[in-house]
Amino acid sequence: MNYTLITGASSGIGEAVAKEFASKKHKLILVARSEGKLQQLCKELSSSYGIRTEYIVADLSRVDASREIFDECQKRNLQVDVLINNAGIGSSGEFPDNDLNTELDIIQINCTSLTALTHLFLQEMKARKSGTIINLGSLIAFIASPYMSVYAASKHFVKIFTYSIAEECKPYNVHVMFFSPGLTTSNFMNTKATNNAWGKSLTSNAATQTPGQVASELSMAFDQKKAFRISGIKNRRIVMLTRILPLRTIARIFSRQKQKQMGLIKS
Ligand SMILES: NC(=O)c1ccc[n+]([C@@H]2O[C@H](COP(=O)([O-])OP(=O)(O)OC[C@H]3O[C@@H](n4cnc5c(N)ncnc54)[C@H](OP(=O)(O)O)[C@@H]3O)[C@@H](O)[C@H]2O)c1
Repeated sequence: MNYTLITGASSGIGEAVAKEFASKKHKLILVARSEGKLQQLCKELSSSYGIRTEYIVADLSRVDASREIFDECQKRNLQVDVLINNAGIGSSGEFPDNDLNTELDIIQINCTSLTALTHLFLQEMKARKSGTIINLGSLIAFIASPYMSVYAASKHFVKIFTYSIAEECKPYNVHVMFFSPGLTTSNFMNTKATNNAWGKSLTSNAATQTPGQVASELSMAFDQKKAFRISGIKNRRIVMLTRILPLRTIARIFSRQKQKQMGLIKS
């Protein structure tokens, strides 16, 4: 077994996935911006599980970051057999009031860098006729989500892109999976762009999972070579419900509920 590369491995779901794959003796390449956290996690995982670990510090909001990660793997002679595109950011609020740079970073990190990394590593997997790519979606990829509009659109992109390349890759024995968590207790809703009144209204009363639970479902789906998996039984039920309603109706119901919660319209 060669290396499993995980982006966004310094915290939350990515860190939990790193622990899960380390326990299955995967050699790991961990990618994020926080060097100290990556260093510490590599040390912890190699001493607990006796595996090789490497880290690459990269800011995926930069256009060149994906190429630099790929080149660094080549330079260190690390063959990537499993690529887990997990890094992702979001925002919550009324679109014109949100910080434009953050909205554009969402597209760069969640869509553009994910596409570039997939392209670069998939070329080698296709030639070798083996490999796995796992792209992290979200429950939001199945609904239209006012007040998280760019984030929701980014995850719809990931869904369609991943479903499509999954079919293209079948003749080459490359396994591609779209894995979607629902609300998970991590730093995701604690950033400057998400930790606000809109964020709280969007997540209140929602069922949550821990990163460990999500990572264990992802790892099981990887073993079973699933093409598609939604984490958590409650989240799977929500997605079943969305199959009977048009996206615009879901958007209308969702937005009216949030507008009432935020006092923008009367009940
Ligand atoms: N938490 C949820 O409720 C939830 C629900 C559905 C889907 N998801 C998806 O699950 C994935 C992981 O989210 P999470 O909940 O684990 O969030 P998290 O705890 O905030 O972790 C995000 C990870 O991405 C990395 N990251 C952020 N910006 C980056 C950048 N510019 N360059 C490189 N790495 C960057 C962070 O590391 P550094 O800060 O060190 O760079 C961190 O390791 C995301 O794709 C998210 O969309 C999350």
